[in-house]
Amino acid sequence: MQAVNAARHLRAVDNLLPTQSNFLSQMITVQDLTRKYAHTTAVDHISFSVAKGQIVGFLGPNGAGKTTTMRMLTCFLPPTSGTAAVAGFDVLEQSLEVRKHIGYLPETPPLYPEMETAEYLRFVGRLKGLKGVELDKRVDYVCGRCAVADVKKKLLGKLSKGYRQRVGLAQAILHNPDVLILDEPTAGLDPKQINETRDLIKDLAGEHTIILSTHILPEVEQTCEHVIIINKGRVVATDSVANLQGRARDRETVVLEVAGRGAPLDPARVQQRLQRVAGVAQVRIKNQRNASAVFEAESRRGEMVRGDLARAVIESGWDLNELRPEAMSLEEIFLQLTGSDSAAAAAGKQPSEEAASAPQAAKESGAAAKEPQR
Ligand SMILES: Nc1ncnc2c1ncn2[C@@H]1O[C@H](COP(=O)(O)OP(=O)(O)OP(=O)(O)O)[C@@H](O)[C@H]1O
Ligand SMILES: [Mg+2]
Repeated sequence: MQAVNAARHLRAVDNLLPTQSNFLSQMITVQDLTRKYAHTTAVDHISFSVAKGQIVGFLGPNGAGKTTTMRMLTCFLPPTSGTAAVAGFDVLEQSLEVRKHIGYLPETPPLYPEMETAEYLRFVGRLKGLKGVELDKRVDYVCGRCAVADVKKKLLGKLSKGYRQRVGLAQAILHNPDVLILDEPTAGLDPKQINETRDLIKDLAGEHTIILSTHILPEVEQTCEHVIIINKGRVVATDSVANLQGRARDRETVVLEVAGRGAPLDPARVQQRLQRVAGVAQVRIKNQRNASAVFEAESRRGEMVRGDLARAVIESGWDLNELRPEAMSLEEIFLQLTGSDSAAAAAGKQPSEEAASAPQAAKESGAAAKEPQR
């Protein structure tokens, strides 16, 4: 891939360009990255790139290879083959540089239960090369930014899940890295905490390039500009959220509210009439009142039916109170791209913490053991 070659070229003139990351428009480049385990190919020749300042949703069902990819990008796991570069540095050859430029929030943040929040952040800060006044300033800053200032003196082991997640985020941004890799940052949080964490991530996006993994599809729609969809270790789509929705929209779903003109409405008659419009596949009655009802009409593939639906309503002597196309949701696109065996994962939307499998938990405790060595 050109971007990787460019990164390699820039590395060759490393000494001449101490702030080379500023020169790269692609902050992350991944080329044919592969990770095999004994019986599984967890990540199978994936390639993608992420431009500086982008916030990208890394989306895929359980076991798709999201965590494995993130662990390779953050140098916790060597690839079986292929290359990845972060801020122009190769994850295998220049792992120290990569770690300087990256902040990582693993699925389970590696927190020491017997440490207090501020003590832990100072400890991580020192491992990341911060000291003196700068360390004090950064710890204060991230505590404010991630809303953990009120638990600075509290033992990590006694924090709630939401606070632990925020401390995890605080340690990830402590050294002000160019790139943030966040593995399911909102998993296990309550709705209020989810909103706060999403807002924080969106806020951080101005300053950092971010990849966040999730199964929560509305999260991607709300937080990310771009999306990489991965399934069974392979990239099945990479595009802007808007483009993906547009690309998949080769049929339309139209919601109509129809009212009788000063008379009660017979929804079944309206349904039959709309059903006869050319290009309409099916019409459902969504709800009905005495004088009006809401319908959802779905077109056949390649058919746009809005105009004809509107005409059919008016010409039949009814009022058309509302007509709007329903955007194809990312969820539908996801299911189209990842196949029916992923339906359960997507339908779950809000995976419980228990969804993390035993091997997953074991992997993350491995991360916990390694993390402080940074
Ligand atoms: N240490 C390991 N040993 C063997 N197989 C592994 C190991 N780690 C992961 N796998 C397998 O690799 C595949 C990808 O796992 P990975 O954890 O990357 O998926 P994921 O997309 O993060 O899933 P989830 O949404 O459940 O977190 C799975 O089939 C998993 O069982
Ligand atoms: Mg995972």
